[in-house]
Amino acid sequence: MSSEVPSDNDEVGATLWLPRKASMPAHVVCPKMADHTAASTIAIARHELQESWQGGQVTLRLVSEGSDNDGYHIKYKVADHSAVVSARRPLGLLYGTYALLRWQETKEGNDRDTTWTSAPALQRRMLNHWDNPDGSVERGYAGKSIWKWEQITKNGMTDSLRQRLTIYARANASVGINAMVVNNVNASPKMVTRPYLEKLKVIADLLRPYGIQVWLSINFGSPLALHETKTADPLDAAVQRWWQRKAREIYKLIPDFGGFLVKANSEGQPGPGDYHRSHADGANMLADALKPYGSTVIWRSFVYGANHKGEDRVMQAVSEFKPMDGLFHDNVILQSKNGPLDFQPREPYAPIFDNMTKTPQMAELQITQEYTGQSLHLVYLAPMWKEFFSYVDPVARGLKGIAGVANTGDDTNWCGHPFSQSNWYAFGRLAWDPSLTSEQIAHEWLLQTFGRGDSVTVAALEDMMLSSREACVDYMMPLGLHHIFAFDHHYGPQPDGYKAEYPLEWCPVYYHKADKQGLGFDRTVATGSGATAQYREPYRSLYENVKTCPEQYLLWFHHVAWDYRLANGRTLWQSLCDHYDAGVRRVAAYRVLWQSPAVRNYVDKVQWQQVDKLLATQLDNARQWQHTCLDYFNGFRSY
Ligand code: GCU
Repeated sequence: MSSEVPSDNDEVGATLWLPRKASMPAHVVCPKMADHTAASTIAIARHELQESWQGGQVTLRLVSEGSDNDGYHIKYKVADHSAVVSARRPLGLLYGTYALLRWQETKEGNDRDTTWTSAPALQRRMLNHWDNPDGSVERGYAGKSIWKWEQITKNGMTDSLRQRLTIYARANASVGINAMVVNNVNASPKMVTRPYLEKLKVIADLLRPYGIQVWLSINFGSPLALHETKTADPLDAAVQRWWQRKAREIYKLIPDFGGFLVKANSEGQPGPGDYHRSHADGANMLADALKPYGSTVIWRSFVYGANHKGEDRVMQAVSEFKPMDGLFHDNVILQSKNGPLDFQPREPYAPIFDNMTKTPQMAELQITQEYTGQSLHLVYLAPMWKEFFSYVDPVARGLKGIAGVANTGDDTNWCGHPFSQSNWYAFGRLAWDPSLTSEQIAHEWLLQTFGRGDSVTVAALEDMMLSSREACVDYMMPLGLHHIFAFDHHYGPQPDGYKAEYPLEWCPVYYHKADKQGLGFDRTVATGSGATAQYREPYRSLYENVKTCPEQYLLWFHHVAWDYRLANGRTLWQSLCDHYDAGVRRVAAYRVLWQSPAVRNYVDKVQWQQVDKLLATQLDNARQWQHTCLDYFNGFRSY
């Protein structure tokens, strides 16, 4: 589904946060590079500065001191408004360039001499596109795929596609994103055939100077599906040779190809389990094929319903993978969603991060708003990701990277909802520096997207963004409720939805477990599924005990009586009503704010109208959630 609200703004990428054009070209001094990619990267940096820097001379300087990473150092002199950007690597100069331009757009108060240094906290800052070769996008809400495979041949791509993808590359580089899986985890075997690899090379060539590496999701059954082997068994020698040949073919075309992302034996995808082999057998076979090129297999832990049928779904990743900890080859990374279920508006963190001590891990966040109103609701996700980081600190845990399921499509404004761009932006900024605050990022994004405006208006919009995720939790599924979405499209409410006719392993129960006595899923060790045991202390004990379980996770871990009193003295039922009400009120207040003259003056007319309409839809939807869920749950109380 693309945005329902048409935009008359036809300028390609018109509304992104990218630097605005300055009136005068800036003077830029930069190093000469013999290497082609390095020279292109520096040429991009120079061009960005020439177009948008409004100060004096900028010098880009490659240096040999400092840590050897893609970081940068910036020195700004107020006397002549000059700046020196230095870095160990050409890509650091590009990142420093974007940082300088961001600073120009967002700096506050009196100018003075300023210096700062920044380096990426995480090695892989990756987008996962769930795009299919036919142009559709799984859980995409902003039009069709950006890739337009039909407009790419082995010799190049159309001008219009090149123009669009160049903006895409700039936007990603400007926030430090450095890797991109171009296709859906439910991968078509087509993606590893020669014609697609040749097209991928063309994309890789375009993205390379921006420091972005391309990756592929692969279908584990590819050789069999393409009729090139008789099986896809990872222990079969012909299958192993097939993948080795495939890797060689890919690296010949794309020497800096990133590697494979794999969803196996999950939701109907083929995998090593089809041949009674383990995930480790499957991942290691692919890892061996990629090893000569120094690259990596990212294996997803989002599996359920295969080997642990009937077990509480949120426990299955740990049950499946913990026994394999230590069995994976060293170029395998396990990638897990932030929560143990599936990108709900709120989940406790996924305990797999506590349970795998020998296997390198990555976190997968979802930028596309599958379960948070898609491209119709204004929900700023940085607070959700920061909440996850407060349990799983990506740096302290030594995560090998962070992946974000992309929310971009071919809609004019890229993401459907104008504010959904802030989630793409925030993802990149947090992957670069997870210690940035949600406030800082919202502030930066607003100023770069809509301009400086007056500080009161900007602060009000910032508050709106910051509270919007909690508002969404409140009007959709407060107090730890989860997965009461309509089956399949995951947009609206359907608390009575998960019925027996749906495949048992996909949706084994009514997750809310409402009955006459109360509401919520008992996951305690004492009387429930025992999921609390998968957590490290102190969370294990905190979550196990209904008295100490944080109220935001109450119904995730406990079946609670309707008249149970929460900390504020209100009963469960009353609190549920309070939360739904609070969510609806918040969205109503966003609409009032949006219609205020100050905001009308701040935001351009087309975007203002678009967001105004979308907020009306969001408010209707929030009310619908409130009525549907409360009516439904009330039915249990009154038996
Ligand atoms: C969710 C989503 C699917 C997706 C899956 C995954 O279940 O609804 O569309 O394929 O996650 O992450 O693999």
